[in-house]
Amino acid sequence: MLSRSSKKYFSIFNQIKYFISKLNINERKYFDLILRGIIPRPQYAFGIFFASSIASQLGYKKISVCEFGCWEGEGLLDLEHYSAEIEKLFNIEIEIYGFEGGDGMPPPIDYRDRAYQYSEGEMKTSKKSCLDSLKRSKLIYGNFKETVPDFIKNKKFSPIGALFIDADYFSSTKDSFKILDHDNKLPKVFLYFDDLNFSSNFTGELGAINDFNQKNKSKMETVPELSETMSLYWKKWNFLAKRFYLLHNFSHPKYNERYINPFYNNLDKNYQK
Ligand SMILES: C[S@@+](CC[C@H](N)C(=O)[O-])C[C@H]1O[C@@H](n2cnc3c(N)ncnc32)[C@H](O)[C@@H]1O
Repeated sequence: MLSRSSKKYFSIFNQIKYFISKLNINERKYFDLILRGIIPRPQYAFGIFFASSIASQLGYKKISVCEFGCWEGEGLLDLEHYSAEIEKLFNIEIEIYGFEGGDGMPPPIDYRDRAYQYSEGEMKTSKKSCLDSLKRSKLIYGNFKETVPDFIKNKKFSPIGALFIDADYFSSTKDSFKILDHDNKLPKVFLYFDDLNFSSNFTGELGAINDFNQKNKSKMETVPELSETMSLYWKKWNFLAKRFYLLHNFSHPKYNERYINPFYNNLDKNYQK
């Protein structure tokens, strides 16, 4: 089941295309649904598809994907929906974790949390939330500052393949990155950031990315030429794919193990290098 907001963006025309493609689906057809923006919130589907393809080629049987900042659970519902479909394409299992405080935005720490754009208590999880409709996501309630260190210390989880970060603040984003302190992750972790727009290099999610890169040997980087290439197929990738980063975990034993790039492998023949 897709979330309410995704259903709103799902035109009848695209629903028919989706339905027909699914009658005889394969990796390439599914990628086409994503690439052409036929399915709603395709950026979430892209992250799961990309991580699952690499993981299966590198011999992983299970991966974890996490959303930080879940509010009413709509993103998690979409993650569940797409995971169920993508698992079958790559013969892989996907664990879904959602991290959320539940009381809305916490108090800002300092200017880097951009209090000009967000307020304490905003986006409190309400009774209308779809958290009750979630079937397989594991929700971890509480401030990331406490829940993330606790998670990596006490929880058994499959290697981390993708993080969807939608917690707005510099401080919350920085606290979510603590999950990457654990070695149990893929050599490249797909990262999606929902709130890069209008921040500076030193504030918000972008500030947290730059802070991470200064302090760590592994690096978070955008994917050169990705948004330009993807926007040839659907114009919204022009900005949506600029929210994609990869964590390059250079010292991972599998960092240089060969795989076929799922992006180029699934592009149709019209793509000109
Ligand atoms: C923009 S909303 C998330 C929307 C959701 N991803 C979706 O697609 O519907 C941001 C959420 O992040 C949560 N949040 C922000 N900072 C947090 C923190 N440090 N710990 C826990 N939750 C946090 C807020 O409670 C809020 O619900």
